Amino acid sequence: MKTSESRETVEAKDVRGKGYPFHITQEEDRELRLKAARAVPAAVIDQASFFDEYVQQLMIPPVVMDMVRKAENMRLAPWEVAAMRKHLAPAEAPGTEVGLLRKILQYKAADDKTHPPYIRVACTGSSQYDYLALEDGHVQSLPEGNDVGSPVVLEIWPAQHYSPIHSHGDTTGIVFCLAGQLDVMLYDSLDWNARKLGLITLSPGQCAWLSKDTYAVHRVYCPLNGGEGTTGPGFMNSTEEFGASFHVYLNEDETPMMPHDHHHREHHSRNAFDFIDEQTQEKGKFKTHSDLSWSVLRRVLAETEIT
Ligand SMILES: [Fe+2]
Repeated sequence: MKTSESRETVEAKDVRGKGYPFHITQEEDRELRLKAARAVPAAVIDQASFFDEYVQQLMIPPVVMDMVRKAENMRLAPWEVAAMRKHLAPAEAPGTEVGLLRKILQYKAADDKTHPPYIRVACTGSSQYDYLALEDGHVQSLPEGNDVGSPVVLEIWPAQHYSPIHSHGDTTGIVFCLAGQLDVMLYDSLDWNARKLGLITLSPGQCAWLSKDTYAVHRVYCPLNGGEGTTGPGFMNSTEEFGASFHVYLNEDETPMMPHDHHHREHHSRNAFDFIDEQTQEKGKFKTHSDLSWSVLRRVLAETEIT
């Protein structure tokens, strides 16, 4: 039964052709993966096993390597992943209670119908939906501080959900996969019709990177099984599968090892990023509000019973 189901999914993908999220054929998918594998500098940070790979890795800026070195032992514990799955699971029957993360997804989906939602967890400060954890009795108090511009963010990508094409402006950063699997499409500019530079898949422990001149524009997608239906605007998955990534974004004046002009351009900092609206295909600006704070999520996960 299982086998025939998965074969149907593969066939459906073939028929779908240029569907969401990347609007590419399977042939283009293959070519873009090859293109990413040959890219200089490398799009994925790795230990080179031969000269050509070494050259690809060599061109990655030292400040990026410093961020990677500090992140390399970070993992989500198996119990944290299990608890997150529980909070992402769809309702068992219509109208029944769902976990905190699914609740946030539902709010976000109602708020923005242009693409399936993902969750941004700020590692510092406070966040928009922290109050839901208080309402549900998970925590007794809320964190203080700003809800915009955390330099480190945990992102939770439900299976088959994706971001719009967006630019990280003048920041320098890393995208470190912590759980599940994530596809990242790289673009040469912020435009609906931008040229695609390559497609990469990150597994736990693998890391992508960006700077203002290199790989600053991308789209992230979790390719895992999202259950019934085809992804696209208005899609909400029906499984508890997810990918998680840890993101670090440093503003230009916080990266002493990168040459910069000391000209702080607020609109190119991590406090906001520019994106391409999925419906209008026009440029927009997204203030980087976070949905949940790590201090809250950690307490919620710790008290979640894993059965
Ligand atoms: Fe991003």
